[in-house]
Amino acid sequence: MNKTAVITGASRGIGRAAAYKFACAGYNVVLNSKNGKDNLDSAYDLCRSVSREGAGIISIPGDISDPGFAKMLIDKAADTFGSVDILVNNAGISFVGLIQDTTDDIWQNVINTNLSSVHYCTRAVIPHMLKNTCGHIINISSVWGNVGASCEAAYSASKGGVNAYTKACAKELAPSGISVNAIACGFVDTDMNSHLTEEERLSVIEQIPASRAASPEEIAKIIYHISQMPVYLTGQIITADGGWI
Ligand SMILES: NC(=O)c1ccc[n+]([C@@H]2O[C@H](COP(=O)([O-])OP(=O)(O)OC[C@H]3O[C@@H](n4cnc5c(N)ncnc54)[C@H](OP(=O)(O)O)[C@@H]3O)[C@@H](O)[C@H]2O)c1
Repeated sequence: MNKTAVITGASRGIGRAAAYKFACAGYNVVLNSKNGKDNLDSAYDLCRSVSREGAGIISIPGDISDPGFAKMLIDKAADTFGSVDILVNNAGISFVGLIQDTTDDIWQNVINTNLSSVHYCTRAVIPHMLKNTCGHIINISSVWGNVGASCEAAYSASKGGVNAYTKACAKELAPSGISVNAIACGFVDTDMNSHLTEEERLSVIEQIPASRAASPEEIAKIIYHISQMPVYLTGQIITADGGWI
C-alpha cells in the first residue's frame, strides 16, 4: 500500500515543492491551502503529472487555523487512503511591522495560522499514526523562532512556539514510534519574501554565507529526507539557513 503525506499550505512555495517531491516518490499526497484556488489546482495538476500508478492525489482547500477544518482534513486523508504516514505542517503567514502596529487581529491571525494550526493537525493525526505505531510529523519553522526578528514579533513568537511544541510532542510521541521534528528555515525564495525590494533582498543575501536564498525545492528535499529517517531522530529543530544565523 502506498504511504500518505499530508502537506498544509501546498499551493505555493515550500509546500508545493514538498508535495511534488512526495508525489514523485510514489506517495499518496493530500494538498491543502486556503485562498488560491488556481494555485492549488495547479499544484494538484503538477503532482498528478508525476504520481505513480496506484498513488492518489487529492486537494482539500480550507483554513488550517480552524480546528474543525484541520480535523476534517486529516480524517478525510486517512479515510481516503487508509492512513496518514507523514504530516508536514507547513502553512504559514508573516507580518512585518512594529509591535505597536501589531493589532489583536493581526496577532491572532499569525498565531492561529502558524502555531495553533500545528496543534490542530498534530492532535488530529495522532490517532491515525498510533494505529501503525509509526509516523513522521515535520513542522516548518523559522530561524526567527530560534533568535527572534525585529519587526516580526508575532511571527517570531509563533515559530518559537512551534519549536517548543515540536520538542514537547517528540517526547510525548516517541514511545509510540512517532517522530516530530522542525526545520528552521532561513531565507527561502518564495512569495513570502515578495514584499522585499531588490535592494532589501540583496542586503539579506549579503548576510548569508551561502550568498543566496534557498530554493523551495532544497527545503522540500530536507523535508523528504527527514521523513525517511528512523523515528529515533526526533525532537530536533534542524536549521536550514545557508550558515546565516
Ligand atoms: N520563505 C521564507 O523565507 C521562509 C523562512 C522561514 C520559514 N518559512 C516558513 O515556511 C512555510 C511556507 O512558507 P512559504 O515561504 O512557502 O510561503 P508562501 O509561498 O507564502 O506559501 C504559504 C502557503 O501557506 C498557505 N496558507 C496560508 N495561510 C493558510 C491557512 N490559514 N490555511 C491553509 N493554508 C494557508 C498558502 O495558501 P494560499 O495560497 O491559499 O494563501 C500557501 O500555500 C511557512 O510556515 C513559513 O513561515 C518561510
